[in-house]
Amino acid sequence: MIGTKQMHPLLAAEITGLDVSAPIPEAVFSEINEAFRRHSVLVFRDQPITDDQQIAFSERFGDLETTKVGTVGTGSKLIVLSNMDADGTVVPPSDRQSLNNRANRSWHADSSFKAVPAMASMLSARIIPSKGGDTEYISMRAVYAELPDRLKQAVEGKVVVHDYAYSRSKIDPNLVTDEERAAVPPVRQAMVIDHGSDLGRSLYLGAHAARVEGMPEDEGRALIDELMAFATQERFVYAYKWRPLDLILWDNRAVIHRATPFESATEKRLMVRTTIAGEAPTLAAVG
Ligand code: OGA
Ligand code: MN
Repeated sequence: MIGTKQMHPLLAAEITGLDVSAPIPEAVFSEINEAFRRHSVLVFRDQPITDDQQIAFSERFGDLETTKVGTVGTGSKLIVLSNMDADGTVVPPSDRQSLNNRANRSWHADSSFKAVPAMASMLSARIIPSKGGDTEYISMRAVYAELPDRLKQAVEGKVVVHDYAYSRSKIDPNLVTDEERAAVPPVRQAMVIDHGSDLGRSLYLGAHAARVEGMPEDEGRALIDELMAFATQERFVYAYKWRPLDLILWDNRAVIHRATPFESATEKRLMVRTTIAGEAPTLAAVG
């Protein structure tokens, strides 16, 4: 028997009584999937899984993304988030790997820079620092529901260009390689995603959101900034303090997330992520 324990009034639930590496009957999986739909973030504690077990559990939710060029784990179904090199030595802050980790400290939705963005991400805590290195989540459904009328009107029908090179250039102008630029050109996304009549709509934004189509650059930027300032109010934020062997699944269409800093020059952090691909673009096909 699994249990569901809500962690925050707006999002996140812990699933108890489950070993994710054991076979999960269809009826139990449906319960998990329904909790995922409702709560957007699911926490599974004490899951000492291997990479293959993580892949197998992730694949219950859908096909996995293959890791893009320029990221540790490229070509595989895993993204390795670590501040160590292959020998386990902490890398300096100027290292590409450190800069990419730093980029995760901006609020974002994973793979929003892809034409069909990621549905969900699953992150497994293998090594965590003694302090900091938490992950924070915001319910973008709650945010949309509470937008003042003026902003609700402003977002209606808007298309946003998401661009990996844009978000990375904010961290360091030389961080994105030509190979990455070619692999992930800018894409168009809906500013609002509809989750059906029971769940309502969510605002779809984050660090990769570069500009708003059909608006002058500065006005579009100002709108994105105003919406992000509204969304990131503390009451919408759920801050998760990791314990070793925690596993978290989140819905990238309904939440944004970010990493918090830690003493990365001296402490170690190793997380392994799998990413469940989306099934459709956020923009309905125009007939
Ligand atoms: C990610 C991510 C945040 C963290 O895995 O997609 O943004 O706290 N992680 O490591
Ligand atoms: Mn992320």
